[in-house]
Amino acid sequence: MELSKIGVLTSGGDAPGMNACIRAVVRYGASCKLVVVGIRRGYAGLLEGDLVRLDSRAVANIIQRGGTILETARCEEMKTAEGLKKAIATLHREGIEGLITIGGDGTFRGAAALAEVGGIKVIGIPGTIDNDVYGTDYAIGFDTAINTALDAIDKIRDTAGSLQRPFFIEVMGRDRGFIALDVGIAGGAESILMPEAETKIEKLCLDMRRSFKRGKKSYIVIVAEGDEAGGVFPIAQQVWERLRLEYRICVLGHVQRGGSPTARDRILASQLGAAAVDALANGKTGYMVGELKGKISFTPLRETWEKRKELDSNLLKLTEILA
Ligand code: F6P
Repeated sequence: MELSKIGVLTSGGDAPGMNACIRAVVRYGASCKLVVVGIRRGYAGLLEGDLVRLDSRAVANIIQRGGTILETARCEEMKTAEGLKKAIATLHREGIEGLITIGGDGTFRGAAALAEVGGIKVIGIPGTIDNDVYGTDYAIGFDTAINTALDAIDKIRDTAGSLQRPFFIEVMGRDRGFIALDVGIAGGAESILMPEAETKIEKLCLDMRRSFKRGKKSYIVIVAEGDEAGGVFPIAQQVWERLRLEYRICVLGHVQRGGSPTARDRILASQLGAAAVDALANGKTGYMVGELKGKISFTPLRETWEKRKELDSNLLKLTEILA
């Protein structure tokens, strides 16, 4: 059966570039003669039937905007059998034959359930600043987030050096250290603490002491929010107890999630949006479309959360040498 109507939603944490992706889905869909329906507030809107018809004009002037025009939600009800039934009912009632879901692993779990239980045709697109989804080298929003964080870190370096203070900077990444590693390398951080490497406070103190002795004027510790030592506050406190060095803390927080997407994110979002429509139109279902080694690739939805995406081990090694 040929598709005539598809839906698109954004779910979970928003990421810069989601709008560029919605735009690509709508305009590529129109070029394939598909009717495209936007679902507001992710799965929450799908359960309630909160839909809006999107034509090419409706997505004008959004490629440069952060956030998501469709809005998003973290929907607990979608994880229940009752919620899933409601979502499937909306899709059937509205005649939506295929669905594109943009988000992270929670988004893909919902999409996989819709495919498995409801027989809905689904394609996922990775959109999360955490970049922790297996099956793609880059998720939409990651490039913008690391550049936003880097800009802040460079500014903090100026004041850190002027007052010769250590700084502890917490970056996002609920369970993983992808943001921490990249901004740590790019920002010339002296230490990077993340869930993928054991945090050793004694070693951190030793490195810090040696570094100031050698004449360094600043010392920046990047801490991933998911670090097993419990976040930036307890870590800084433990260092203080050992070194009695005056320090400052900066939690970059949701600043990293906002802002105009970089060119890299806009291009990735446009490519993945178009590829997702293409895949659905050609009968593909149950996959996430991503980018691996610069090429469009498809990964079964289940693998995106069942398999673990590894950090670049060469980058990890470099952090030690370059700091
Ligand atoms: O998953 C993206 C993310 O920004 C994580 O890095 C962070 O832990 C989480 O979302 C924050 O979620 P919320 O916006 O619901 O506080």
